[in-house]
Amino acid sequence: MSKGTAVVTGAANGIGQAYAQRLAADGFDIAVADVVDAAATRALVEAAGRRFFSAIVDVTSPASTLQFATDVSANMAPVVALVNNAGIYPWKSFEDTDYETWRKVMGVNLDGAFLMCKAFVPGMVARRHGRVVNVASTTFWLNAPEMTAYIASKGGVIGLTRALASEIGASGVTANAIAPGLTNTKSMRGVNEEIYEYLPKQQAIPRVIEPQDLVGVVSFLCSSDSAFVTGQTIVADGGQVRV
Ligand SMILES: NC(=O)c1ccc[n+]([C@@H]2O[C@H](COP(=O)([O-])OP(=O)(O)OC[C@H]3O[C@@H](n4cnc5c(N)ncnc54)[C@H](O)[C@@H]3O)[C@@H](O)[C@H]2O)c1
Repeated sequence: MSKGTAVVTGAANGIGQAYAQRLAADGFDIAVADVVDAAATRALVEAAGRRFFSAIVDVTSPASTLQFATDVSANMAPVVALVNNAGIYPWKSFEDTDYETWRKVMGVNLDGAFLMCKAFVPGMVARRHGRVVNVASTTFWLNAPEMTAYIASKGGVIGLTRALASEIGASGVTANAIAPGLTNTKSMRGVNEEIYEYLPKQQAIPRVIEPQDLVGVVSFLCSSDSAFVTGQTIVADGGQVRV
């Protein structure tokens, strides 16, 4: 039997796809919002025997996110989990970060999480059942140059998580964040290949993090076992930072 629908943004690729696959294995039907086609994720979710829905959604658009909520509600079981994973990470010095880049990063990473919460949290609160998981980053605690807009946006994600948890806790809906360390994805390798040579060596567990290393945290935060955990950020970075 389905546990209900888990919405995962940016799950056409990378870590989000691994979250979707794991949540399907956990018994959730999956709805994916991404700017690109999620056919590969559909195959993984359906192979796990769960229902799948996706749409081309730009998480920076209030209209697009609200339409997605309407479409998910028309096609799928009620949404019980929302994983705000869509994110971008242009590698740019502060000097080279113009306002347009800053706004773009804030738009996807922070506004996107806010807008998806606006679209899905009211339904969870009304049903008094739900889990929000926002995706932050371990860079928030690191000396990581050339990521000003990114780190600022992920700090915002942690703030959004904490504040939202306070407002929805009485309804039994939780809001938490996962902060992954540098993880092996095509996109991240595309922006900075050299970092994979030295950063993993600084972790307590000194190897490259794979998306599969992260999925258990999201599984827990979407489960009934985490019912009394809210407003928290769980760092999953092989023990590089201690918060
Ligand atoms: N890879 C890492 O090392 C790492 C480390 C820490 C945190 N993270 C975070 O994990 C998340 C996923 O990272 P990834 O490496 O898997 O990235 P990825 O590029 O592989 O996947 C991101 C997905 O988001 C989608 N997306 C981008 N803009 C969007 C928009 N406006 N609306 C909807 N979807 C959009 C992309 O199409 C893509 O499918 C991001 O939030 C990232 O900041 C990644």
